[in-house]
Amino acid sequence: MILTAAEYTAGRHGIAIIQGMQDRFLTPLDRLLAGANNALRTIAAPAGRPARTNPAAEIAESELSDEQRVHAAGLMRVNHAGEVAAQGLYQGHAAVARDAATEKQMQRAADEEFDHLAWCEQRLAELDAGPSRLSPVWYAGAFAIGAASGVLGDRWSLGFIAETEKQVCAHLDSHLESLPENDVKSRAIVEKMRDEEQEHGENAVEAGAAPLPDPVQRLMQLTAKVMTRTAYRL
Ligand SMILES: [Fe+2]
Ligand SMILES: [Fe+2]
Repeated sequence: MILTAAEYTAGRHGIAIIQGMQDRFLTPLDRLLAGANNALRTIAAPAGRPARTNPAAEIAESELSDEQRVHAAGLMRVNHAGEVAAQGLYQGHAAVARDAATEKQMQRAADEEFDHLAWCEQRLAELDAGPSRLSPVWYAGAFAIGAASGVLGDRWSLGFIAETEKQVCAHLDSHLESLPENDVKSRAIVEKMRDEEQEHGENAVEAGAAPLPDPVQRLMQLTAKVMTRTAYRL
């Protein structure tokens, strides 16, 4: 499994975040530093410029009541926390992935998740709100789960991704029901994210994801519930 530092840290942006690392191959220490770099970019808002334009960029702001704004901000904070966790999860998986193609696929998905993260952060600022104060907890927990399932083998980590993305899609669908009808900007972001999460899940299945046992699926649902309830407020 040989990836250049540029591929690992910058993905499809093609710019090495750590200057001068473009031509070197990664040692375990490089990987550790690249991982720490990603963690910092994820947890320390602002996340920076997304690689792709925010799907709501061209949409005009609509009139929202205070109550609607606070509710939309709560939901977008939950989505932002989900994207922080997605970074942890994908980076955790990628850190222990055995197959280079699997690692690359995870890195590509993580790049798209990073755009989601930045879009949610932009929307939160527009709604006069900020990300969850527990971001480091969401990241660290997800990284540990990602690495632990990855250690069992790529089929299991892909299975974990497929199940996570399935649950995330259902969750984003519920947000599309719950978001104020006139909050078209938040809705545009959530719709785009939902389409891409579905694609991530389908890619994981195609790459050979193992179906997870029922108790594991239920435990994941329970964990997600705790996270979403908490991040709505904190
Ligand atoms: Fe995402
Ligand atoms: Fe995803």
